[in-house]
Amino acid sequence: MQKRYFIKTYGCQMNVYDSERMQDVLAAQAYLPAETMEEADVVILNTCHIREKAAEKVYSELGRIKRLKMQRQKAGKEFTVGVAGCVAQAEGEEVMRRAPVVDMVFGPQNFHRLPELLGNKQQRPVELDFVANDKFDTLPAPRNTGGRSAFVSVQEGCDKFCTFCVVPYTRGAEYSRPVKDIIEEVKQHLDHGVIEISLLGQNVNAYHGAAADGSEWSLAQLIEHLAEFDQIKRIRYTTSHPRDMHNDLYRVHGEIDKLMPYLHLPIQAGSDRVLHDMNRKHTAAEYIAMVEQLRSKRPDIAFSGDFIVGFPGETDEDFEATLRVVETVHYASAYSFKYSTRPGTPGATRSDQVPEEVKGERLARLQALLNKQQEQFNARMVGKTLPVLFEKAGKHANQWLGKSPYMQSVHVPAGRPLEGQMLDVHITQAGPNSLGGELV
Ligand code: SAH
Ligand code: SF4
Ligand code: F3S
Repeated sequence: MQKRYFIKTYGCQMNVYDSERMQDVLAAQAYLPAETMEEADVVILNTCHIREKAAEKVYSELGRIKRLKMQRQKAGKEFTVGVAGCVAQAEGEEVMRRAPVVDMVFGPQNFHRLPELLGNKQQRPVELDFVANDKFDTLPAPRNTGGRSAFVSVQEGCDKFCTFCVVPYTRGAEYSRPVKDIIEEVKQHLDHGVIEISLLGQNVNAYHGAAADGSEWSLAQLIEHLAEFDQIKRIRYTTSHPRDMHNDLYRVHGEIDKLMPYLHLPIQAGSDRVLHDMNRKHTAAEYIAMVEQLRSKRPDIAFSGDFIVGFPGETDEDFEATLRVVETVHYASAYSFKYSTRPGTPGATRSDQVPEEVKGERLARLQALLNKQQEQFNARMVGKTLPVLFEKAGKHANQWLGKSPYMQSVHVPAGRPLEGQMLDVHITQAGPNSLGGELV
């Protein structure tokens, strides 16, 4: 009987991408996907280390998995448990010690070796090497998922060392994939009918990849090249760092219609002192100037962001500066978090940590403002016509769901299947998290 796998993914888009590629590896080994963990022979947790809560979730999940494994073993069946991703990379052997249920641990640069790890599971292997591009050179081609939208990793790792962040430790040094490899992966997706490409990287706009002619391409050059493919209708990129917003990126936002007018540009905090302490290396005014510059090139562009409240030393006044940035930019959506001390990062050792209840109050105020802005942004769509890429049937009969250029979920009534089509929708209603409309 064919073996089945189940992958549970935590964390960011990079992990979502990695889980997809793990599925490619397992599919090439004739594994089938399982609907639930209970039906699987191999369970992999692709983990996130960004905040304490995210990391601790993994251990509580492993507690449940332990009971599952005992049941399986009683029934004389094999059951393999792998821990992948950023907790694996950060804690390695510690995962093995804390959770004897785990058979193998492997980091974000090692999952291409899954077949070998599965073969050696008796030894409880721990694979945490960083070998740039080793992974990409050996991964099988992406399988056909039937979807119209695909992620392609172009840049991995991070050298920026923001003082709150574990990513440079879990993902290693910054690395840009060669142009040729990226285009090859894109073409494989196009052969499967994909029309939307999202370029991924922890700092995707720091991209500087080797091109065939020996030159180095920027992210803007890569986007310009992709825009020439007729089959590609939408291009996105995420996540960008304000420090790497270069002139040619502003330009392509003005010139390329296929580049969606929606940009995730995290600022984290609005106080220049806090930004300095975070090692972000830009000011709030510089960030706002970037937003204005982008709006002048592409008037319909909208922004999303990330925020941290309660970084060590953050005063009420510093926090007010964050609110002011939000008021100025007016976000279409955003993620916001309480600062979480992460082992090994400079922020963790500071003596001026902000009390939890202060962080809680600040987060509630910030989120109230961001939610209001998101609702206002959605409400502004009513009366407009937006191109929607339809993905799946909705909850109700004859309802179809898709995504707007701004990643809003849009539902329309339709008596025929719309999946995979890009169609104009006249927006008639807006809620906090979705839009409704009619096909034009
Ligand atoms: N490279 C991206 C961010 C990647 S991490 C950038 O520089 O903008 C995703 C988000 O998690 C960050 O933007 C930040 O808002 C949040 N985050 C990272 N470390 C955190 C910590 N220690 N506590 C709380 N939030 C954190
Ligand atoms: Fe983390 Fe900063 Fe790198 Fe973003 S730029 S991944 S926040 S260290
Ligand atoms: Fe988490 Fe790793 Fe992404 S720590 S946010 S899964 S890079």
